[in-house]
Amino acid sequence: MKTIIEPFRIKTVEPIRLSSVEERRALLRDACYNPFLLKSDDVIIDLLTDSGTSAMSAAQWSVLMAGDESYAGSPSYSRFKAAVQELMPFKHIIPTHQGRAAENILFSLIGGAGKFIPSNTHFDTTRSNVEASGATACDLVIEEGQDPACTHPFKGNMDVARLGRFLQEHEGHVPCVMTTITNNAGGGQPVSLENIAATAELAHRFNLPFFIDGCRFAENAYFIKLREAGYADRSVVDIVREMFSHADGMTMSAKKDAFANIGGWLALEDDTLAERARTRLIQIEGFPTYGGLAGRDLEAIAQGLTEIVDEDYLAYRLRTCEYIVERLIEQGVPVVLPAGGHAVFVDARAWLPHISPLQYPGQAVVAGLYELGGIRACEIGTVMFGRKTDGSEEAAPMDLVRLAMPRRVYTQSHADYIVEVFDELNQVKERLSGFRIYDEPPTLRHFTSKFERLAKAH
Ligand code: F0G
Repeated sequence: MKTIIEPFRIKTVEPIRLSSVEERRALLRDACYNPFLLKSDDVIIDLLTDSGTSAMSAAQWSVLMAGDESYAGSPSYSRFKAAVQELMPFKHIIPTHQGRAAENILFSLIGGAGKFIPSNTHFDTTRSNVEASGATACDLVIEEGQDPACTHPFKGNMDVARLGRFLQEHEGHVPCVMTTITNNAGGGQPVSLENIAATAELAHRFNLPFFIDGCRFAENAYFIKLREAGYADRSVVDIVREMFSHADGMTMSAKKDAFANIGGWLALEDDTLAERARTRLIQIEGFPTYGGLAGRDLEAIAQGLTEIVDEDYLAYRLRTCEYIVERLIEQGVPVVLPAGGHAVFVDARAWLPHISPLQYPGQAVVAGLYELGGIRACEIGTVMFGRKTDGSEEAAPMDLVRLAMPRRVYTQSHADYIVEVFDELNQVKERLSGFRIYDEPPTLRHFTSKFERLAKAH
């Protein structure tokens, strides 16, 4: 069969309230043109994030009842740990309430002033946790990964030659090497196994641990199966194990590729570091057999991990974004190519050349999508990354808009509706205007900044 169907049927539904364009114009104005300040009830299709927004399966809902809420030694922890180690056989599995807590613990231990932490691309919370420790976060993705139109199959790859020069230049000041799979900030692009192995080998040559930010590990593994020579006949589970066999630990948000609504973990091989991490965990999250989670959350994650590596699910999952990307290309909307795993990324800078980067073309697209179709998307560009630590502002390397697809939530007709809204917006794109920020916090400004619409272009 040519049609890749949603490999599930729907048992529970959440009604969506359909609103009018006029209503949404007022709602967005009241939210100061920041989609994070909208109420989710006022959103028709919510593509703000794929994080924590998965539909859980009947099996996940049923294991919630088996959650054991004991403070210490809960069997739910044992099941969680076993499910993680089935895929990522690290020695120490430390549960946290979400991914950023794992990052916070790791970088509070190995970061610090004067240190440099390289990655293909740090995501915003990772960067923020690195910087909060006093260290500098450095992105060394391959050049192709910065070019939205380039169709390299593994645009999330680390530039290994640059990493080599970087490690030499900063020798003695680099505590670890990281890689994010898939590369969220760079367009949901995968990292090849060859690149993971080469990055790890280089890190180890400098006696440094290699950590993977594994939020979207299953999507990355399926891309490897589809695109990397020698992996077509290997199972996703096998590929996942091989990916993590190169690493000395990982940070994870179970809100992505574990189908959970909350949760995460820090996994480590090093006993001493794990001991220090557990001490820190107790200070800020909880006892090491629950971290910041309820026992039932650990159960949902354990079950979710068995479902996320299902290859029928992954085929459908990757096809969703690819389908939307194909339709947008037909309309002439510039998108990051090839389609990413969890999201469609629109190149707002290329689509709206009449809006300069410091007037936030991505925010203009976000506002247009909401007003026209009630779609909530997220700017990943100059709003998110433009403010520097010294207070200055400069254009981010790209001005993208991310349409992140929640897992197992929307259907093909929702996808067709998204495509139709883009078609409508494309007709009026010359009339979209830029924005000015009139109120912003010192860091992570995209979450709470308030915007004012600049005079409309003609
Ligand atoms: N690493 C990556 C690559 C992420 O995408 C995220 C979260 C995190 C770490 C942090 O995990 O949310 O559980 O604390 N990304 C979400 C997003 C928020 O919308 O992309 P968390």
